[in-house]
Amino acid sequence: MKITVIGCGAWGMAIASHLTKQGHSVTVWAHSEAEAERLTKEREMPNAFPGVRFPDGITFVNDRRAAADAGEDLLVFAVASPFTRSTAESFKEAIGTGKRITIVTKGIEEETLMTQADILEDVLPGNTIGVLSGPTHAEEVILGMPTTIVSASKSRQLAEFVQDVFISPKLRVYTSPDVLGVELGGSLKNVIALAAGMADGLGYGDNCKAALITRGIHEITKLAVRMGALPVTLQGLSGMGDLIVTCASMHSRNRRAGILIGQGKSMEEAMAEVGQVVEGVYSAKAAKALSQKYDTPLPIIEEVNRVLFEGESAEEAVRKLMMRDRKMESSFRPEDLPECWRTGSSR
Ligand SMILES: NC(=O)c1ccc[n+]([C@@H]2O[C@H](COP(=O)([O-])OP(=O)(O)OC[C@H]3O[C@@H](n4cnc5c(N)ncnc54)[C@H](O)[C@@H]3O)[C@@H](O)[C@H]2O)c1
Repeated sequence: MKITVIGCGAWGMAIASHLTKQGHSVTVWAHSEAEAERLTKEREMPNAFPGVRFPDGITFVNDRRAAADAGEDLLVFAVASPFTRSTAESFKEAIGTGKRITIVTKGIEEETLMTQADILEDVLPGNTIGVLSGPTHAEEVILGMPTTIVSASKSRQLAEFVQDVFISPKLRVYTSPDVLGVELGGSLKNVIALAAGMADGLGYGDNCKAALITRGIHEITKLAVRMGALPVTLQGLSGMGDLIVTCASMHSRNRRAGILIGQGKSMEEAMAEVGQVVEGVYSAKAAKALSQKYDTPLPIIEEVNRVLFEGESAEEAVRKLMMRDRKMESSFRPEDLPECWRTGSSR
């Protein structure tokens, strides 16, 4: 297949390398001429992948027309989320209509509250759009470590096409029709990862981490289902799976930023030290706006917002979460409850 990856960050390059090893003809679009030239010459990204050389088969270009034409079978959008709309707009003419597109970027647009696939549907109408998301650190995929991912699209044909293109003994690809659920899981987990990092930075232990992961997926599921996603998606790879990997791994830039904030640094200082786009910071604001729009309280995400944007300390945020009103763990259906739990209160 002839495939173009639009974006040459860590994930774009891990995908391009994987697809080249699968025998596809792969072109990568870099957003600057200088970066396209550097990658063509040096074929490595030592900060992200020390000691890894990209396969010789990958072609790097900066020209949009050349990039779009080279991806006649599939275009993979892989720029960081703040650049998805501007990049798609800049490609509008070159892409035209009738193309297969999948997007691997995670995040919710702050101003519009759109997901990444929503943005592509908006900017590139007349194309078939899907998303590819899951617990997939680029640093492990590029080394061929066993990894799983979900190919979602309203078009079953596209979801299965992307599955066929990507699947290998190293990368197992599942399909799903629930684009919204897959995207919300992938975007909102970054906000919980910031919280998990803050807990680590404060020196708290595994109990606190387990609580944040479990109550975090509870929050994400509540909002996602209210917005129309299927609950089972949030229990899957792109939901719980991605949340676990992001909260536990040092590969996660959101968790690393959270650790610095937990240690007392400001959001700006933490972002500068991590040195890459910390997408959870953008998604935190968007998630808060969605919580208000859909009238769904998201206690952890609200506290993350207070720490990031209102100067609250991470320690105070944890204290407030621990001291919230007492409640049952889940919203049980009345028919599942014993009689004494169904009526009134024992207190
Ligand atoms: N890194 C991972 O392990 C991983 C895994 C799964 C999904 N993702 C998602 O993939 C997306 C990209 O992640 P990444 O790790 O490759 O990010 P990155 O920060 O390494 O790369 C971002 C890329 O965005 C593009 N970019 C930067 N500035 C731009 C501009 N002004 N205009 C247009 N494009 C510009 C460039 O191609 C740049 O390399 C993110 O949404 C991330 O959540 C990452």
